[in-house]
Order: sequence, then C-alpha cells, then structure tokens
Amino acid sequence: MIITIDGPAAAGKGTLAAALAKHYKLAYFDTGMVYRAVGLQMVLDKLNLSDENAAEKIAKQLTFEKMMELSRHPDFRSDIGGQAASKVSAFSKVRAALLKMQQNFSLNPVFADGTPANGAVYDGRDTGTVVCPDADIKFFVIASAEVRAERRYKEFIAKGIKTTLKKVLEDMLERDKRDSERAAAPLKPAKDAVLLDTSNMNAEQEIAEAVKIIETKINKA
Ligand code: DC
Repeated sequence: MIITIDGPAAAGKGTLAAALAKHYKLAYFDTGMVYRAVGLQMVLDKLNLSDENAAEKIAKQLTFEKMMELSRHPDFRSDIGGQAASKVSAFSKVRAALLKMQQNFSLNPVFADGTPANGAVYDGRDTGTVVCPDADIKFFVIASAEVRAERRYKEFIAKGIKTTLKKVLEDMLERDKRDSERAAAPLKPAKDAVLLDTSNMNAEQEIAEAVKIIETKINKA
C-alpha cells in the first residue's frame, strides 16, 4: 500500500505520516529531506541559492547516505534549511534530478533499519501528483497559517532554536507563496486526494480521522 500526504508546512503531515506508517507497518519517506539536503549543501558550499545549475549538480550527486548525514546538521530543520529547500525546490532541473530517487523507494520500500516493508507513506508537496500518482490513498492536509506558525514555533523552541512567532509566520507565508506559485510541480491537491483540515484537531483526532478514511476506502475496494 502506498499512501501520500501532501500539504503546506506544519499542516500536520509529518505527525500523520509517522503515525500511519506505524499503524499499517509501512516505511516512511519524508520527501522534504531531499530538498533540504540540496538547499543546505548549497548554503554550506556558499553557493548562490538562485543558481539552478549549481543546485542541479548537487541534486544529481545526492545519495541517501549523504542526505542522512546532512540531516544531522543543526540548520537542516531551521528556517535557513527550510528557506534554502523551498528555493532550490522551485527549479525544475533539481526536481527532475531527485524524482527517480523518490520513486524508487516505492518499488523497494525499507524501514529505517533497512528491512523491507510492504509499502510506504510519503510526505511532501507533490507526492500524490508527481512522485506517486498511482498511490492507493492520497491526503492533502491543510490548516490555517496562524495555527501552523504556532505549531512550528513550539517545535523550534522545544529544539532550542531561537526565533519569534512573528518571524515563523512571515517565513511560513513566504514559503507557502513560493511553493504554490512555482511553475515546477506547485503545491496543489491531487484530483483524487482527500482534504483534511487539521486547524481544529489535535494529533490524535487527525490520526483517527485519517485511519477512518483509509478503512472506509479499504472496505469499499
Ligand atoms: O516539508 P518540508 O518543510 O521539509 O519541505 C521543505 C521544502 O521542500 C518546502 O518548502 C518545499 C520543498 N518540497 C517540495 O517542493 N516537494 C516535496 N515533495 C517536499 C518538499
């Protein structure tokens, strides 16, 4: 079974993806990591984030191991990493270079320890539209910008990352705009995606709602 979960930043995709992966014993691919890895490598190499060819070169050389190594850098999950990822992800050459790596995972999904899984949960912006258009179940998760900023702000503070709620909200609105208006695979729901608005839901309610939707689909099939 392949499940895709797309939507804007901090809408509740990651929490839902991890919970569904655990519930259905599926592997998990957080596809934002591939763009964060390329963006962060550009920052570390002091390259210009508007240089598409330089970003494409890094994307072509990216391996799973390198991505995991970069994920341990303190800026991988910070505003710096998020903004850099959003910028490089707007380049169609970068997206093309990273597509196969993401699609191959659905052919041979594996858990974090390398053991094979019977399917995967993908989380990202275009996993239901471009990466896995034939996925069995697709979700498009949304929440108001204020709710999302509040969630992300709390995550940053918990991780010891210094910022303000205002800065997080501004950063989020800027990223939303870029991710939705870009020409290459803009953020939008797949035609067959189920829309899940988590603005007034806590994590448990969101997970319960998604499981209910999946069970209804499975029982109908
Ligand atoms: O989900 P995230 O915050 O880690 O994603 C970081 C950036 O990567 C996001 O601003 C847009 C980009 N991204 C994308 O374009 N396509 C994906 N499937 C996942 C992420």
